[in-house]
Amino acid sequence: MHPLQCVLQVQRSLGWGPLASVSWLSLRMCRAHSSLSSTTCPSPERQEDGAPKDFSSRLAAGPTFQHFLKSASAPQEKLSSEVEDPPPYLTMDELLGRQRKVYLETYGCQMNVNDTEIAWSILQKSGYLRTSNLQEADVILLVTCSIREKAEQTIWNRLHQLKALKTRRPRSRVPLRIGILGCMAERLKEEILNREKMVDVLAGPDAYRDLPRLLAIAESGQQAANVLLSLDETYADVMPVQTSPSATSAFVSIMRGCDNMCSYCIVPFTRGRERSRPVASILEEVKKLSEQGLKEVTLLGQNVNSFRDNSEVQFNNAVSTNLSRGFTTNYKAKQGGLRFAHLLDQVSRVDPEMRIRFTSPHPKDFPDEVLQLIHERDNICKQIHLPAQSGSSRVLEAMRRGYSREAYVELVHHIRESIPGVSLSSDFIAGFCGETEEDHVQTVSLLREVQYNMGFLFAYSMRQKTRAYHRLKDDVPEEVKLRRLEELITVFREEATKANQISVGCTQLVLVEGLSKRSATDLCGRNDGNLKVIFPDAEMEDVNNPGLRVRAQPGDYVLVKITSASSQTLRGHVLCRTTLKDSSENC
Ligand code: 5AD
Ligand code: SF4
Repeated sequence: MHPLQCVLQVQRSLGWGPLASVSWLSLRMCRAHSSLSSTTCPSPERQEDGAPKDFSSRLAAGPTFQHFLKSASAPQEKLSSEVEDPPPYLTMDELLGRQRKVYLETYGCQMNVNDTEIAWSILQKSGYLRTSNLQEADVILLVTCSIREKAEQTIWNRLHQLKALKTRRPRSRVPLRIGILGCMAERLKEEILNREKMVDVLAGPDAYRDLPRLLAIAESGQQAANVLLSLDETYADVMPVQTSPSATSAFVSIMRGCDNMCSYCIVPFTRGRERSRPVASILEEVKKLSEQGLKEVTLLGQNVNSFRDNSEVQFNNAVSTNLSRGFTTNYKAKQGGLRFAHLLDQVSRVDPEMRIRFTSPHPKDFPDEVLQLIHERDNICKQIHLPAQSGSSRVLEAMRRGYSREAYVELVHHIRESIPGVSLSSDFIAGFCGETEEDHVQTVSLLREVQYNMGFLFAYSMRQKTRAYHRLKDDVPEEVKLRRLEELITVFREEATKANQISVGCTQLVLVEGLSKRSATDLCGRNDGNLKVIFPDAEMEDVNNPGLRVRAQPGDYVLVKITSASSQTLRGHVLCRTTLKDSSENC
């Protein structure tokens, strides 16, 4: 059944108190991904004086069961190139941005970077302008993260600063509106409106289409929230707006949500159930990016390699692919659909000069088809993020990761055999519930054994609602978590330095990003393994135009001879400008 959306608006101008005692101005239901459409989302009528009618008469005039049946069959891929009809309690003029300037600030993961572009794309179509100057903004939107307590604390601190900005705002300007978007809006819901009275808008990760309506309500001095999660929202038809026109690479969201339910993780609660975007719409976006001259796309999702496009009936007959050996899932086996190997194959054929990466995968979904494809296709980067989380099988079980240390190590060997020279990265959590010193030693030994090229290491942060919160004890003292984290970071750096030093003396293909942040005479780019490579900005030959001397520009591929390596960066000197097809890395 299709999801119903519940939109809650809080009448602040009536002077209602804390939300615990608040009356809801209206409680409406409509289809999550078409909330702007008056045909799918009928709303409370107003009396002639503009005041809302009493609740029972509004309820009587509300949607019928037939209405929901009708709206549930509306196609998802409706092109939203123009602003839709306003709901009856707003005029079209109120729904439009009227050149209000929006300042967007992004926190957290790459998914949030992509979500910021989606939110902006929706607002831009609605007549808002974008500003990168906070002082100029009429609307400030924070795209937030809840994965660890610290991430949320950063937002609360930022809100205090913004409160001062709002209070100091001259009366001659339109009132400043502040919105919380994304995971924190979803997790804390009305607690945010309760604690921070100056927050005007809350929009969960599946409610960005509703932003113009929510902001229109906020314009009238009311708080507005839409935090309902959807089963099918993928924003498939919303082409994200690239924030930096000079960018060489872009993120392309291929799925949303997560069904894994690892016991420590809040993501399934803030981003909802896993759903994949139709392959056709992903390919369309990648083609557009290629036409714009972008040289790299990263396929994004919480769990990219469990991709499964079931959008057409005939896809359900597709042959199933197996889990990696020794891996299980916390959910019932899913059937059919176009899988990740198919998508990767198709995406990599769009433009042979475009590098393809993907993140984040789960180790369970690496069937041989995927590994084979990465090995044989020149433009699919030989770089795999393989989040281990712990090196102790006991802790992995408590985390409900669906594999043992042994199965994980076997997979690493299999990947290295299938894709020689592959670059590996991982995520680890220090100090999970019940983690003993012996468990920690096991994690240290896994870091030594695998010798990752990159790593993302975190101290465990207990999150409400998760299985660990309900069933386990956060019993590792904070100072022990931090000490273990420090140890992991030290070992990771030592091993990454060794792993990266293998590149010294090699010639690597680098996609140039621009000037190095540290020196105006150096350029910076990324190698196939996604490691930063720094090299002096010098003239070089262009292999396709012999005799022509050129300087590298952002978006160029160049061959760089690596001369030194640290845990996070390679250095070298540039040899020539080339293309991805013609490049011949050697080592
Ligand atoms: N505490 C610490 N780290 C966490 N992660 C996810 N949830 C938590 C938590 N509660 C880490 C995992 C995940 C990465 C994105 O964030 O390592 O892979
Ligand atoms: Fe969280 Fe696990 Fe899903 Fe990653 S796979 S988002 S860690 S539940």
